[in-house]
Amino acid sequence: MKISVILGTRPEIIKLSPIIRKLEKINVDWHIIHTNQHYSENMDRIFFEELNLPKPKYNLNIGSGTHGEQTGKMMIEIEKVILKENPDVVIVQGDTNTVLSGSLVASKLKIKVAHVEAGLRSYDKTMPEEINRVLTDHISDYLFAPTEEAKNNLLKEGIENNKIFVVGNTIVDATLQNLELAEKNEYINQFLKNITNGEGYFLLTLHRAENVDNKERLKNIINAITKITEIYDKDIIFPIHPRTKKRLKEFNLFEKLKNNKIKIIEPVGYLEFLILEKNAELILTDSGGIQEESCILKVPCVTLRYNTERPETLKVGSNILVGDDKNKIINAVELMLNKKRTWENPFGDGKSGERIVGILIKNLF
Ligand code: UD1
Ligand code: UDP
Repeated sequence: MKISVILGTRPEIIKLSPIIRKLEKINVDWHIIHTNQHYSENMDRIFFEELNLPKPKYNLNIGSGTHGEQTGKMMIEIEKVILKENPDVVIVQGDTNTVLSGSLVASKLKIKVAHVEAGLRSYDKTMPEEINRVLTDHISDYLFAPTEEAKNNLLKEGIENNKIFVVGNTIVDATLQNLELAEKNEYINQFLKNITNGEGYFLLTLHRAENVDNKERLKNIINAITKITEIYDKDIIFPIHPRTKKRLKEFNLFEKLKNNKIKIIEPVGYLEFLILEKNAELILTDSGGIQEESCILKVPCVTLRYNTERPETLKVGSNILVGDDKNKIINAVELMLNKKRTWENPFGDGKSGERIVGILIKNLF
């Protein structure tokens, strides 16, 4: 049996790492195909190094571009590799353009598709990610849903029950495996001390297209964040996504951000980020994965969006949706800071990676 693992962005590397670790331990022919949708050192290579992952067999060097250009170029290059390797199954994870390209190419070549993190829905078709995940789910043969709720979304769309496996989310595996490594690591602890001076802080990430490509929305969020630093007299640590940095500069908002307690830093590695999350008093984000991690790490989360494909976090009470409304954001921060951190993690037991590999081996051999 041969398996192609297709990945391209930061969250895919992180969330596929538990599956890759498992594949390394068993006797099966497999390899990584990297589209290089993400390519900056701190969005890509740093994760292979920190997570001790093997180098991709193929680097397709696609990089950035418009949706059509990026997706089309990926398809052309992925097809060449898939024709050469002829795997029994390709594994894709999540909802990026890499995922759609990989799954489309494989399905057209009649190669089985395994979709990790299947069944997530924001029901907002203006998001490119929603289109990518819906289409990928409908052409997949093995749908690894993280929760029963995700499975139900798939059933409602007519996807056959026997293709769906509820396995938890591999982010739990990644978080638990790596938090322990981070906490034991002198360098990582020193990094935390240097950046926080031992003071309490909030953590911020922002990169969703609908927030950062829209000047008005980005401005609203920044105004709210600035106000929050004043109200709480606290630093907000902000590892900035390259997309966001580019837009802030384009909109002449970058300098404005620099003049207050918002500590802008370059994106950090996974161990550094986990330590920043674990020790934060509160997280503000529009990231998908960070809504999950904050829930797992029992740190309250304020999500700067109007919808989420992770409703489990809202149900258990670890997360709240606020969009870009300044007052709503400020009120939500107060509410979430007063939350008891007693919620249960709805994303599984940290054995999803093993479970997924086990199911594939059992079904394909
Ligand atoms: C992509 C995914 C998004 C995911 C995010 C994870 C799609 C449609 N979007 O968004 O779902 O949440 O990754 O972080 O697939 N850039 C760099 N260096 C890099 C990568 C990007 O400078 O290594 C800059 C470029 O200016 C690029 C911009 O960021 O144009 C956006 O990159 P792109 O991959 O298109 O989308 P993301 O916003 O990263
Ligand atoms: N992350 C990281 N360094 C950072 C910011 C985020 O390692 O500076 C990790 C984070 O722990 C999570 C993942 O990146 O696992 C989330 O990626 P992102 O927010 O870019 O994408 P999304 O989850 O929204 O698709």
